Amino acid sequence: MSLVIDALSIRRGAKTVLSDFSMTVEPGRVTALLGPNGAGKSSLVLALAGALPVAGGSFGLDAAPLTGASPERIRAAGIAAVPEGHRVLAGLSVEDNLLAAGFTISAAEARRGADSVYGIFPELAERRKQKAGTMSGGQQQMLVLGQALIAKPKFILVDEMSLGLAPLIVKRLMGVIDRLAAAGTGILLIEQFTTLALKHAHSAHILSRGRLSFSGSPQVLIDDPDILHRAYLA
Ligand SMILES: Nc1ncnc2c1ncn2[C@@H]1O[C@H](COP(=O)(O)OP(=O)(O)OP(=O)(O)O)[C@@H](O)[C@H]1O
Ligand SMILES: [Mg+2]
Repeated sequence: MSLVIDALSIRRGAKTVLSDFSMTVEPGRVTALLGPNGAGKSSLVLALAGALPVAGGSFGLDAAPLTGASPERIRAAGIAAVPEGHRVLAGLSVEDNLLAAGFTISAAEARRGADSVYGIFPELAERRKQKAGTMSGGQQQMLVLGQALIAKPKFILVDEMSLGLAPLIVKRLMGVIDRLAAAGTGILLIEQFTTLALKHAHSAHILSRGRLSFSGSPQVLIDDPDILHRAYLA
């Protein structure tokens, strides 16, 4: 099953921030979405999470439409977003942050989900009773990713996960992304560090001013960096 986005348009206020955008996120693959500030990447993630209305077009899992569905329904269908700048609930424990993210599943499933997140991030298991706000930025980002993983989603949409984190932590998080993809999860990866994203991606797309300007193999962009440079300068 793929996450199919077909001719999607999004408006924010009077502005059209995404126009006629089509892309498929395949299971077991890392799909990179690159593009300059204000291109519309985060708006796309918010729309796919059901947090922004769609002005035209559609998206869904294969032919099953999710356009206009509530955030809860989209989550329950197996799509989890890690929105840009998402923060953990600082005053709650690591465990409570995880369990709170399991709002679409039963308490027993959330318990099992939390245990599987602890398996992926032993750093979180060690700190399960600790207040989330007292952890390092990297550990908090692990928790944010863990929250998205709690209901064992088929697809995760990861928006600027590495922002402000030390290279070693970024490497650790990217290793988890690779393993999730290898285990069958489809990943939409939005990343300011384009070299990093291209290294881990199976396919790449460039968004400029709300429109798709490139779609193809990451290797094409690695071999010809001018394609990216032009998109970022446009
Ligand atoms: N809360 C908002 N209300 C209205 N317009 C917004 C809002 N947030 C962003 N926009 C506009 O939507 C457009 C797309 O922004 P978006 O945040 O989706 O881009 P982006 O590609 O994620 O950029 P960045 O790389 O800076 O994260 C921009 O023109 C921006 O000004
Ligand atoms: Mg953004």
